Amino acid sequence: MSDRGSFNSKLGIVLASAGSAVGLGNIWRFPTEVGSNGGAAFILVYLAFVFLFAMPVMVGEFVIGRASHTNTVDAYRKLAGGSKWVLAGYLGVLGGAMVLSFYSVVAGWTLKYTFDSLTGQICWDADHAGVFSGFVSSPVLSLTCMAAFMAASHLVVVRGVHEGIERYSKLMMPMLLVIIMVLVCCSLAMPGAGKGLSFLFHPDFSKVTAPVVLSAMGQAFFSLSVGLGCLGTYASYFGKNTRLVRSAFNVCAIDTLVAVTCGIIIFPAVFSVDSAQVDAGPGLVFITLPRVFHTAFSGMPVLCYSFSSLFYLLLLLAALTSSISMHELCTAFVSEKYGMARSRAAGLVTVVCSLFGAACAMSFGPWKDMTFLGMGVFDWFDFLTAKFIMPLGGLLITAFVGWYMDREMVESQLTNWGTLRIRSLRILMLLIRWVAPIGVGLVFLNELLPLLR
Ligand code: PFF
Repeated sequence: MSDRGSFNSKLGIVLASAGSAVGLGNIWRFPTEVGSNGGAAFILVYLAFVFLFAMPVMVGEFVIGRASHTNTVDAYRKLAGGSKWVLAGYLGVLGGAMVLSFYSVVAGWTLKYTFDSLTGQICWDADHAGVFSGFVSSPVLSLTCMAAFMAASHLVVVRGVHEGIERYSKLMMPMLLVIIMVLVCCSLAMPGAGKGLSFLFHPDFSKVTAPVVLSAMGQAFFSLSVGLGCLGTYASYFGKNTRLVRSAFNVCAIDTLVAVTCGIIIFPAVFSVDSAQVDAGPGLVFITLPRVFHTAFSGMPVLCYSFSSLFYLLLLLAALTSSISMHELCTAFVSEKYGMARSRAAGLVTVVCSLFGAACAMSFGPWKDMTFLGMGVFDWFDFLTAKFIMPLGGLLITAFVGWYMDREMVESQLTNWGTLRIRSLRILMLLIRWVAPIGVGLVFLNELLPLLR
């Protein structure tokens, strides 16, 4: 185990796992979904999914990872012999590589916007939609930003679990939390902030339709990084004393708190300028917000500069802590499966995912018209992972831990070999064995049936 490395502290474990969870999904995707799906009602459905479905999957990943102390494919091999369960591991690695690829494209945009904020450019531009579409459709610029971001996550992973992932998570996560607190204060001080808050916290249940429920589940899985094995891979580096259930709860709580807080940052700011923009879709962060910075702080360049720089830096840090977990999922697999040194395995993952990422980036530019069933490469990667691979992975993980693994082994992982008393153990097992698989299965079927018809 020492050859593989391990986390050295409880704080490192929670911050690295929360770092995987807190990412573009919280800051970019969550407010976008809340904005398009009717505000607080969406948040309530989302919360139910987080604690009833996604958290049991996370606990399941932790159990598989720590019980096997190996990468996600070999974990199934070790715990289930030569059976077909290893396919669940391969599915996770494939999904992780796919998410890393399209995620790095958006993270690359974030890198560019961080740069533009630090140079003050964002506060001078007037045509924000034009700037954004010009940038994403330029292959040179968007590929360079995507590759630079991928290189940054490579550099962290190459250093290993303790020196790389744990050390940088301990550095970046507190920075991220401080930036969030500063931005909340600034945003709440903006004129019209109250309207943004009431949009965020006033539930409109008429908006909770079947597609909204589906989006909430997809969002919960994506935001908590569950279903692929990233957190399972991290758990393979946990020590004997790590409390799996408590860590999973802490990660879910931090992630949800950050997502809602990002709503508190974004909506008051947007409402203070133009409430018609709240459901602006993915452009919310890259088109609407620069407009908000520009308009709300016109004549106050220092405020515009500080707010926009902090915001995009937050987005960049969050993206980086998440991408390293996907990178680690793939790197651990390649290095252990093929007996490669970590640096070579990480290099291979970086190259392969950069090539996939390039294909995703091109679908905003020269390959814009190359679509299949109306979706380009980027959309396909997003759709297949968030709507298909992650829920299926979640279903397999809970089925494996709840039904296939020896019950005593699972409980001894959850109770640290009987040394902890977990009052909610029975409820948790009920969630893992019944509620999560049935719930995810139903939502999943509901999603697949229209496609098969
Ligand atoms: N949870 C990350 C976010 O919210 O941005 C994204 C993510 C990371 C998805 C790792 C999937 C994953 F395996």
